[in-house]
Amino acid sequence: MNNLQLVGNVCAEKLSLDQSGNARRLFHGRGHTYPGLEHVVVTYYPPFLHIALYAEVEQSALHHLLAVLVDCGHNIEGVVVQHRSGRNTQTEVVMGQVPAQHLVKEDGLSFWIAPTRNQNTGLFLDMGHVRQALQPSMSGAKVLNLFAYTCAFSVSALAHGAQRVVNNDMNANMLNVGRRNHQANNQDLRQVKMLSHNVLKAWKKIRMYGTYDVVIIDPPTNQRGSFVAEKHYAQILKRIPEFAAPGARIIACLNSPFLNADFLVNQMSRWAPACKLQQTFAAHPDFPEAYTDRGLKVLDYQYQP
Ligand SMILES: C[S@@+](CC[C@H](N)C(=O)[O-])C[C@H]1O[C@@H](n2cnc3c(N)ncnc32)[C@H](O)[C@@H]1O
Repeated sequence: MNNLQLVGNVCAEKLSLDQSGNARRLFHGRGHTYPGLEHVVVTYYPPFLHIALYAEVEQSALHHLLAVLVDCGHNIEGVVVQHRSGRNTQTEVVMGQVPAQHLVKEDGLSFWIAPTRNQNTGLFLDMGHVRQALQPSMSGAKVLNLFAYTCAFSVSALAHGAQRVVNNDMNANMLNVGRRNHQANNQDLRQVKMLSHNVLKAWKKIRMYGTYDVVIIDPPTNQRGSFVAEKHYAQILKRIPEFAAPGARIIACLNSPFLNADFLVNQMSRWAPACKLQQTFAAHPDFPEAYTDRGLKVLDYQYQP
């Protein structure tokens, strides 16, 4: 069996067990739990498959993988392959017709994704279990979603009773997708505030709509010119007393192969000592990680001034 055949078999088995209709990561090679397959990631956005390749693979092996997937008996109407090994990501539709915009489901909610885009598709499924775990805290809450991207945390917050969400992201295009995500779930936009500013310069506005009962901090590790975790995470944490309500739940995230959970714990105890660690989230079951410290870190704190 060649390596990609193994990918096909894992995906086919997962598909055969899943009738939920939800978007799902089917194969997460990036987590290093399948040696030699670190370069392969397969995601199902029903009824389309998205295959991301972080290294070149032989065409014949790829065709074999496609054949296994398409024959597995699940409803697959199109396949996108994203080549991410070169300098520039290239995305091609290799089977069927795949729309530029597509609505997918997670946990009963709808989200727009862009499956053929040369970037992330628009929904970080590895945070699905965190969205779910936050549901009980959302009733009546004011929520601050920093680095909101397409506002998935906020859509889930309003669906579970939040009173208001404030989405901050410097990328106005992504916040526009976020607005469409709120609309796709019939949410009242009067409960939603969009702040398309660099967070490091938006404290006045952020304070204005607070204080907040739930705060999500999910920055990039290193986005040139806008955010470098080692330098800027502290600047956010120092401000917590300005915008968090006493007892607030603070979710601090970091997705870096180089900075481990201790980095975040140390930053917190140094710059936000009134925040007490409640729990560390395990990786999402569809995103197993062999080296947990290299993957996504999500820490759950309570602000106890
Ligand atoms: C990892 S994504 C956030 C994912 C999001 N929390 C989710 O679950 O869908 C990082 C986001 O940070 C935004 N960003 C980067 N630097 C920023 C800054 N200085 N201020 C505000 N947003 C920033 C980017 O535009 C990007 O959308």
